[in-house]
Amino acid sequence: MTTELPVPPQESARPLLRPGSRIFVAGHRGLVGSAVARRLADDGHEVLTRGRDLLDLRDAARTETYLRDIRPDAVVLAAAKVGGIMANSTYPVQFLEDNLRIQLSVIAGAHAAGTERLLFLGSSCIYPRLAPQPIREESLLTGELEPTNEAYALAKIAGIVQTQSYRRQYGASYISAMPTNLYGPGDNFDLETSHVLPALIRRFHEAQRDGAPEVTLWGTGSPRREFLHVDDLAAACVRLLEAYDGDAPVNIGCGEDLTIRELAETVAEVTGYQGRIGWDTSKPDGTPRKLLDVSRLTSLGFKPQIPLRDGIARTYAWWLGQLAPTA
Ligand SMILES: NC(=O)c1ccc[n+]([C@@H]2O[C@H](COP(=O)([O-])OP(=O)(O)OC[C@H]3O[C@@H](n4cnc5c(N)ncnc54)[C@H](OP(=O)(O)O)[C@@H]3O)[C@@H](O)[C@H]2O)c1
Repeated sequence: MTTELPVPPQESARPLLRPGSRIFVAGHRGLVGSAVARRLADDGHEVLTRGRDLLDLRDAARTETYLRDIRPDAVVLAAAKVGGIMANSTYPVQFLEDNLRIQLSVIAGAHAAGTERLLFLGSSCIYPRLAPQPIREESLLTGELEPTNEAYALAKIAGIVQTQSYRRQYGASYISAMPTNLYGPGDNFDLETSHVLPALIRRFHEAQRDGAPEVTLWGTGSPRREFLHVDDLAAACVRLLEAYDGDAPVNIGCGEDLTIRELAETVAEVTGYQGRIGWDTSKPDGTPRKLLDVSRLTSLGFKPQIPLRDGIARTYAWWLGQLAPTA
C-alpha cells in the first residue's frame, strides 16, 4: 500500500475541477450527498442526480449505461449502505456486498464513461481499532479493525484501493476522503438507527417538551468524539476536488474533540432542557477517543467555518421545521 509512504498534498498545475463542471453526485438524497450537491450548485457547477428508484447503483451494467449517457466531468460517490452498530452487526452481508457493488459500479462506470475526476467517500471506521490518536492516514491497514463493523470497513477499504488502482493503472485523477462523525440538516433522527448527536437532540427536545426531570444516557460520558457539520464537510470535498490529486486518502474533520458529557450539555442548552443529565454506567462507553489528524487537509487551506454549538442550533432548527406542529 502506498498509503504508508509520505504522500504530501499536491497542488496540480492543470485545473482539476473546471468552473461550471457537470458533476454526478451519487447518493444525493443522503446526509453527505445532499450537502455536497448544495455546495457544488452554489459554486456554479451543474449537479447531475438519479434517485435509487430510477437507478440502483448496485447494478453495474445500468450504472455504466447511465454514466456513459451523461458523461460527467466529475463524480462524487456518497452513496452507500450505512448504519449503526446494531444494523452493522445484524446485516454484515449487505454492508459488505451492497457497498462493494455500489463502488464497483460507480468507479468502474465513471472510468468507462471517460470521467476524469472522482471523489470516493469512506469513513473513519476504516482505521484500526487501536490506531494512535489523532488518527493519521498512514494508520490504514496497520492493525485489527473494530469487529462490529468489519464488513463495512473492509468494503470501504476496497473502495480506497480501487481509486488508487485506477490512478496507478490508468492515470485517473480519482481520490478518496475519510470524514469524521458528521451531523447537520438531512440527518437521521430515528432513535433506533441514528448516530449520537441527532439522538441527543431528539431526546433532550422530547424531555424539554414533556417536562421530564432527568434524561439518562449510556456510559460515563467520558469518551471523546469529534463532530463536523456536513456543510463544512461539503466545503472540504469541493476543496479536495479542486486542489488534491494524491494517492493517499485525506481525513476530513475539524481537528478538535469533546467529551460526550460536554456534547450532551451543549445539546441540552440548545434545546432549552433544564432537567438533570444522568449516566447509566452499567452500559458500555466504546472507544475512549476517536479524533482524526487533519494536517493533510489543513495544508490544502481548508478550515471549518461552523462552530459546534452553532451547528447544533442550526440542525435543531432544521429538524423542528421537519416535525409536525404537535411534536
Ligand atoms: N454520516 C456520517 O456521520 C458519516 C461519517 C463518515 C463518513 N460517512 C460516509 O459518507 C457516505 C454517505 O453517508 P450518509 O451519512 O450521507 O448516508 P445516507 O444519509 O444514508 O445516504 C446514503 C445515500 O446512498 C443512497 N444509496 C444507498 N444504496 C443505494 C443504491 N443501491 N442505489 C442508489 N443509491 C443508494 C441512499 O439512497 P436513498 O435516499 O434512496 O436511501 C442515500 O441517498 C458513506 O460512504 C459514509 O460512510 C458518513
